[in-house]
Amino acid sequence: MLVNSKEICNKAYQEGYAIPQFNINNLEWTKYILEESEKQGSPIILGVSEGAIKYMGGYNVVYSLVTSLIKDLGIKIPVSLHLDHGTSLESCKKAIDAGFSSVMIDASKLDLETNIMITNQVCDLDENISVEAEVGHIGGTEDNITADIAYAKVNDVAEMVSRTKIDLLAAALGSVHGLYKGEPKLDFDRMLQIKEMTKMPLVLHGGSGIPDEMIRKSISLGMAKVNFNTELQIVWHRAVKEFVTTNENYDPRKVISSGEKAIKEVVAQKIELLGSKGKAYE
Ligand code: 13P
Repeated sequence: MLVNSKEICNKAYQEGYAIPQFNINNLEWTKYILEESEKQGSPIILGVSEGAIKYMGGYNVVYSLVTSLIKDLGIKIPVSLHLDHGTSLESCKKAIDAGFSSVMIDASKLDLETNIMITNQVCDLDENISVEAEVGHIGGTEDNITADIAYAKVNDVAEMVSRTKIDLLAAALGSVHGLYKGEPKLDFDRMLQIKEMTKMPLVLHGGSGIPDEMIRKSISLGMAKVNFNTELQIVWHRAVKEFVTTNENYDPRKVISSGEKAIKEVVAQKIELLGSKGKAYE
């Protein structure tokens, strides 16, 4: 029922658009993202961080939640379920055992040799699962952990790509998780070099807050998957805050779903921006 990220990202890469990864945090977000993406006819990747998995109860809960919603809501678009920033072989294995179709192994804090070694171990777990690896280090704040950015070195990328069987490459090129201080400083020259050298789908993390024209340029330079989390959180928070400060209604279904329209609007905008609208059925 789930598809691999590599299938939909390879097609996007060949045809010059990108697949959105929307991060999920709970049942409601998953439902809103699935419903809107179905309406827009876009293939999608649902990204789940280890923190979100822990919050929701575990890998099996997330798998059951996503696949049950796909079934009960009659979702027909291709959906990939992806572990976002898996920090260890064990975490990737748990995701695969639970039924995820795609994993990211993020050993980017370690030296390149160790990063390549762990990435290879993850690639060997199951050849049917898509594997994303990170080179350099994407900075910013995610799962409440803050880190500095380290731009990916082109030689390091060459090593990672030639010595592993990864399907997707997250090369840190100036994007950060969370909010940007000023304009993002994406290194487009290096992006072009990496595109020409790797000829494989690249992943742009930290999609929230990157101006639309920079996202379009990144797609033309090989980014075939763009991740969004913070922007959904911000619009949801704003809408819920407005609701609770102007309303006495304490029904949790009303409180949480007061952010539904805002989330769906961002999902539709990002699908339009990435050019994935209608691609589910082509
Ligand atoms: P943002 O939260 O900045 O959108 O980044 C999401 C992301 O890259 C998840 O891996």
